[in-house]
Amino acid sequence: MDGNQNDITHVVEADRAHVWHHLSQHKPYETADPRIIVEGKGMRVWDQKGKEHLDAVSGAVWTVNVGYGRESIANAVRDQILKMNYFAGAAGTVPGALFAERLIEKMPGLSRVYYCNSGSEANEKAFKMVRQIAHAKYGGKKYKILYRDRDYHGTTIGALSAGGQDERNAQYGPFAPGFVRVPHCLEYRKHEQEGAPDQHYGEWAAEQIEAVILREGPDTVGAICLEPVTAGGGVITPPEGYWQKVQEICRKYDVLLHIDEVVCGVGRTGTWFGYQHYGIEPDMVTMAKGVASGYAAIACLVTSEKVFDMFKDQPDDPLNYFRDISTFGGCTAGPAAALENMRIIEDEALLSNTDAMGARMMDNLHALMDKHRVIGDVRGKGLFCGAELVVDRETREPVAEKLAQAVTADCMAQGVIVGVTNRSVPGRNNTLCFSPALIATPDDIDQITEAVDGALGRVFG
Ligand SMILES: Cc1ncc(COP(=O)(O)O)c(C=O)c1O
Repeated sequence: MDGNQNDITHVVEADRAHVWHHLSQHKPYETADPRIIVEGKGMRVWDQKGKEHLDAVSGAVWTVNVGYGRESIANAVRDQILKMNYFAGAAGTVPGALFAERLIEKMPGLSRVYYCNSGSEANEKAFKMVRQIAHAKYGGKKYKILYRDRDYHGTTIGALSAGGQDERNAQYGPFAPGFVRVPHCLEYRKHEQEGAPDQHYGEWAAEQIEAVILREGPDTVGAICLEPVTAGGGVITPPEGYWQKVQEICRKYDVLLHIDEVVCGVGRTGTWFGYQHYGIEPDMVTMAKGVASGYAAIACLVTSEKVFDMFKDQPDDPLNYFRDISTFGGCTAGPAAALENMRIIEDEALLSNTDAMGARMMDNLHALMDKHRVIGDVRGKGLFCGAELVVDRETREPVAEKLAQAVTADCMAQGVIVGVTNRSVPGRNNTLCFSPALIATPDDIDQITEAVDGALGRVFG
């Protein structure tokens, strides 16, 4: 082993000199050390100074659902890659077949799994399928893809074309044509939406989608891509009545329903998939982060048999199949890790723990709301919660993002990592985000909200 690996001062300098960190302004690293996360165990991680942190955001971006340091996943991956590490996805692999079977058991109504290796890529695949279906079945006409204000579907130009967060998108255009935005469904901010009613907001928000379909022409709209609970756009839980109406609209206008489960998928909200809370029957579902809890890179696009059939019903046509590949979609480490990840969730009853701990987290956040007027709204489903910070509860004016960031910095100093919406919707980077691993205990949840309590007291007085 290279001796430098144990010399942490060298590691910090190598990082400072050569690593371009994600989503980071690097100027501060000229005078302060970048943070290096050295080790993780359960809910906790240690940095280069040996400081312990309780991770309330599962690897910062809702990923490490079963917690750090899982030896059984490491062993499953090791055994698999020694036997057979890779073969391109035109062929099958043992863990690929077995994980697909287990996954489909959890997703009634769907039947096919397409492997790739990031959430953005899985969404791109879905967009490509919609376009190919439009060409094959509708003379190229039904090509438009609807996406929602405040939702995020990934980082590539294609995925950003379906990006509802203007600050994420700024300076990266022009984007791909044929993507059309529909309004958000955040009830707490309905006063900013023209015509929003006091009653039955959920149905109204869904009807705004119908209005867009009618304006564009139903024969031009192929699909709609939605997060079940919007993540980085502000932890937006859907309002009552919303999903039922969305489903009706999709059926009425023959619009494919693509659910982006990259964050909600595989347990985060207390069900295997977020959409399963709302009785939705999607045509396509994409997932990534929690599928193998970050132990290996894996993403999946899961479709109905009806969608799959459209790519094999004209075998004499040389273009009649999904002409797409993901090189690393053929890595076996992903499905091997995902199989063991799923076993852990089942054997340790982590879905019911997520329910119970999510309820505790919401209770604690409501108690904080009683104490701190700066919390204007708390929202959540399972272990996926948010607290929106406002200057004034009447006007609902968001706090300056620097103040929201001061709260997370204070928590970090206390050894608790919490998140905040970041470079998402302009002027709306004011929602604290909590997504601890599904193994969280009552003490972990209380420690998280106690840290936030202290931080809010110090930042807002
Ligand atoms: C809802 C959602 N979809 C897609 C993505 C993109 O996933 P990836 O970063 O794996 O490409 C993300 C990432 O945060 C996400 O939150």
